[in-house]
Amino acid sequence: MRRKGSFAILLPVKPNRPLHILGISCYMHDAAACLIADGRVVAFAEEERFRREKHTGAFPEGAIRYCLEAGGIPIESVDHVGFYWVPWRGVLHRIVQSFHDFPRNCAPSAHRIRIFRDMIGVARLFRKRFGYRGAFHFVPHHHAHLASAFYPSGFPEAALLVIDANGEIATTTFARGEGTRIDVLRTVKYPHSLGILYLCVTEYLGFRESHGEGIVMGLAPYGRPRFLEDFREILHVTPKGELRLDISYFDAHLSKKHYVTEKFIRRFGPRRMPGGKIEPHHKDVAASLQAHTEEVGLSLVRVLHRLTGLSRLCMAGGVALNSVMNGRIAREGPFEEIYVQPAANDAGTALGAALYLHTVKLGHPRPPEPVSPPFWGPGFSEEEIERALRASGLPHERLPDLTEHAARSLAAGKIVAWFQGRMEAGPRALGNRSILADPRDPRMKEILNARIKKREAFRPFAPAILEAYLHDYFEAPAPSPYMLQVFPVRPEKRHLIPAVVHIDGTARVQSVNPRQNPRFHDLLSAFHRLTGVPVLLNTSFNRKGEPIVCTPEDAVRAFEGSGIDLLAIGDFLVRQRSGTGLGELRDQASHPSRSSSRREREGVT
Ligand SMILES: [Fe+2]
Repeated sequence: MRRKGSFAILLPVKPNRPLHILGISCYMHDAAACLIADGRVVAFAEEERFRREKHTGAFPEGAIRYCLEAGGIPIESVDHVGFYWVPWRGVLHRIVQSFHDFPRNCAPSAHRIRIFRDMIGVARLFRKRFGYRGAFHFVPHHHAHLASAFYPSGFPEAALLVIDANGEIATTTFARGEGTRIDVLRTVKYPHSLGILYLCVTEYLGFRESHGEGIVMGLAPYGRPRFLEDFREILHVTPKGELRLDISYFDAHLSKKHYVTEKFIRRFGPRRMPGGKIEPHHKDVAASLQAHTEEVGLSLVRVLHRLTGLSRLCMAGGVALNSVMNGRIAREGPFEEIYVQPAANDAGTALGAALYLHTVKLGHPRPPEPVSPPFWGPGFSEEEIERALRASGLPHERLPDLTEHAARSLAAGKIVAWFQGRMEAGPRALGNRSILADPRDPRMKEILNARIKKREAFRPFAPAILEAYLHDYFEAPAPSPYMLQVFPVRPEKRHLIPAVVHIDGTARVQSVNPRQNPRFHDLLSAFHRLTGVPVLLNTSFNRKGEPIVCTPEDAVRAFEGSGIDLLAIGDFLVRQRSGTGLGELRDQASHPSRSSSRREREGVT
């Protein structure tokens, strides 16, 4: 992946306007689009937010149209388009792999053939759908992940690690980034994959693969890692950083109905059917898988550190969403600083494909500054918000000191949906499309689950904290602005924020500073002034099974009739039709003792 500066001569840049590059990813899962201008991100969004279908892999027409609109450009102004996959790459390797697995192998599934056909035809579809006449490039999948992790990090040089289920061939890639250059050092090839192991066991545990991995991670602390030795045998890391997966335990690579073989079930016990009872051995399998994932992650970064000798690490790929593993790498690994791409999954490769073209293929300099939290999605004017509120008929009021009112309501035990500014990219709500609540109430997790989220009871909720107090509350070596690292909560603080402390005493932390998100920082500060606690419970603003809300209309739909007490959207405070009056709420919020007794009477707590 060496820089090819000669392309800049072959494809001259128009001098009087920025160079626009569009990156797209689709057809597997988490489709997305991203527009960059002279290397800076103009817009990025997942297609699921527009289509309202979680993790959709569909052609990202909504996201592309949004990117063009946000950039204020017609399609004629797009100079290059990058697609996050090279469909013909690795085909031979996979065919050879298929023969290797014979006779257990079956013909490639219709699903896989359809994906291949769609990818081959994506340039034609894009040109037809948008009337595009410019250059269309196919970018190797792990190169897109590498670019998405390194260039936005702001690090002048760094060790780079991609871990996912698989790209065209690679499942793990070690690389070194320096300036504009990225050099791949080593790759692990399909099917030897930590991501595939996690995905298959997720399916065995009755959760949807490529969707439920985070649920398995949340389940892990409820079990004992008594199968750890078994997992060490099934997937091990050689001293050179090669992964070796014993594929006799898995069928995912053979496109079967289930992803583990009878041999796996004999060793680990009966599978759990979706929605079925979680037996003790399921918890133990989750605990063992998670412990092993952390071990493998640590082994890989140690190998990478030896290979590069560098002090900074950038990570991307679906496995880099494993925030417990990331937290251990940050605390126990050899690197001094780590940057995990906020959209580490395949959505982020839309950004990575665009950055790869800009910096590697076309040879342009990378923007020097690191990327702040990724508020690259749609934002809406006060007029647009008011129009949606009027159409909804919900009681609403414009308040000059909305933040203060929201903080008081939260301190009084109310659940507040917080819709501000541009939507965040990546799977975590970072304070622009969030549901917020008081972390001091030990029953808040149950209240949120009963009234709104309806998630599995064992799954934890996460805290957002003022960055200045991060080390007072958490054993965190560095800020965690993207909520992608889990750290222990300091034992002396656990009783202060019980609603966000997981059963093992940890939390997936988001640290917030005023530069990255001034309004959310103001809200946390106001809550801190009122309560002495600089922490809020922060979970994504969505209805069960739906993606995070995108537009004011989505917000109204998710709020209306839900168990959320208040919606703070732009400068408006919105309440439920039959809820507490705004004046009454303000009154009770200014009298905390009255509010808590009222809460008890209402049965809220
Ligand atoms: Fe990937």
